[in-house]
Amino acid sequence: MSENWNAVYQDRPYVNKNPYEGVIEFLKLIRERGLHEVLDLGCGDGRHLVYLVREGFCATGMDYSLWGTLRTKEWLTRENLLAELVCAEAACLPWSGERFDAVMSVQVIHHQKITALRRSFAEVKRVLRPGGFFYAVVPHFPPEDWKDGKYIEIEDHTFVPIEGFEQGIPHHFFTEDELVSELSGFKVLEVKEDQRGKFFVLARKKVV
Ligand SMILES: C[S@@+](CC[C@H](N)C(=O)[O-])C[C@H]1O[C@@H](n2cnc3c(N)ncnc32)[C@H](O)[C@@H]1O
Repeated sequence: MSENWNAVYQDRPYVNKNPYEGVIEFLKLIRERGLHEVLDLGCGDGRHLVYLVREGFCATGMDYSLWGTLRTKEWLTRENLLAELVCAEAACLPWSGERFDAVMSVQVIHHQKITALRRSFAEVKRVLRPGGFFYAVVPHFPPEDWKDGKYIEIEDHTFVPIEGFEQGIPHHFFTEDELVSELSGFKVLEVKEDQRGKFFVLARKKVV
């Protein structure tokens, strides 16, 4: 699937240059608590990673698209900014446990079938320090007016577009109950829903 994203980042990089409003809020919360090591899981071509570094966080970006990470690197270099950047799979993070104070992931985790998606949530938990924060943006079920109906359902609530640049890429759409239940290793602090079909979830790794 990373080839699809490679093609996107080769052909039209930096479509979104500004961070999500919710990310800005999330980082305020992290800063207020004196936390600073943040992983941007699925950093794409870098809009949040660049923002994180500009804001003084110790930032790490990862994405399975080599072209995404290359574009991110280009942007960081242009601005003379430093961050660790890794090309890897969300379901198999290349860090030993409890490395980050916070993990954020904007429209990434749902691009997998349910087994890999569950592994990814478990990986997020594994790399977070106890009490660490997780912020994610995922689409909610049902997919309304999506892709003009040009998709197939391959698993419960997981849809694959049959044309366009996302052809072949799974999109899992969550109900709120499902999202909370998949995050059972976390204390879910807030789930917000916007008018454009997205959930914004804020959770915290339980301290045992
Ligand atoms: C919609 S883009 C979002 C990029 C970025 N988070 C942003 O908000 O600009 C989805 C990104 O997730 C990455 N991605 C999708 N599935 C992934 C996986 N299983 N492991 C790592 N990265 C993944 C893609 O390569 C792509 O860069």
